[in-house]
Amino acid sequence: MNLNRNDALLLKEYLAGRKALVDEALAGFVPGGEFDPPAIFAAARYSLLAGGKRLRPILCLAAAEAVGGEPRAVLPVACALEFIHTYSLIHDDLPAMDDDDYRRGRLTSHKVFGEDIAILAGDALLTEAFRLIARRDLAPGIDPARLLAVADEIAAAAGWFGMVGGQVLDVQAEGKSLDREALQRIHRLKTGALILVSLRAGAILSGASEPALAALSDYGQRIGLAFQIADDILNVEGDRALMGKGTGSDAARGKVTFPALMGVEASRAEAEALIDAAIAALAPLDERADPLRRIARYILERNS
Ligand code: IPE
Ligand code: IPE
Ligand code: MG
Ligand code: MG
Repeated sequence: MNLNRNDALLLKEYLAGRKALVDEALAGFVPGGEFDPPAIFAAARYSLLAGGKRLRPILCLAAAEAVGGEPRAVLPVACALEFIHTYSLIHDDLPAMDDDDYRRGRLTSHKVFGEDIAILAGDALLTEAFRLIARRDLAPGIDPARLLAVADEIAAAAGWFGMVGGQVLDVQAEGKSLDREALQRIHRLKTGALILVSLRAGAILSGASEPALAALSDYGQRIGLAFQIADDILNVEGDRALMGKGTGSDAARGKVTFPALMGVEASRAEAEALIDAAIAALAPLDERADPLRRIARYILERNS
């Protein structure tokens, strides 16, 4: 099932509105180059404010909305998730990792600032993300116990049992052959974990009930895996001008991907089944979860 014209319009409007909100907040959270040492602020702003779909913060806001919360109240945590995601991209592109030259439509951080400053920009974004979560003044209406629970979950999703663990498996698998189960595990860890926790964070901070949280988690696990399958497919047949990053690089580096393992068509079918199941998982939630239902379709239909 594809998005119909009306859904597609509503989705476009929703994403544009939320992206604008996130972009404005992000710009306010990174000091400018007038601070010292200027290089770190320039490098952080360069990658963070370069564009990007802002999917993880948007999911965080949409999850808050889906359980009756106030999206603006979770904006600092949503931005923290984008800090962590952006750090992961800067490090993922380094010569020692995927060695990519383009990201978000511009040269990668290490190409512009050098590897030393790129590594440090990633370090700073990761560290400062947890300050954004911990700052009480940014979340006046939120119970500190909820912020602490969310900090714990986000750290776990980003750390050795989550994204970092997935990245380790990803680089160690280069040039090897893996079965589908092992590849799914990499995708769930390197990409799925942060997507899942983005939804959970928005819901937990908004006081979601257990059944609502369970439904959102089920949805998040499925779209997280589907998102990385779609990323694998775009690396094969996407338009690099639209994506703002290189294509064909997975095959060149001998990356294990869904298209490499089972072909593009079977990969697409797998992702479609995950999206259908993700939408079905939202059944306990009312129409306030409609943006999440549309976002699920977008994950496969996107071209960037
Ligand atoms: C790219 O993420 C890296 C993956 C985890 C697949 P996105 O496709 O969300 O990248 P941006 O944030 O829009 O640049
Ligand atoms: C990115 O995976 C995952 C993380 C950065 C954690 P990829 O290496 O497949 O993503 P792209 O294609 O470079 O964006
Ligand atoms: Mg990678
Ligand atoms: Mg990469």
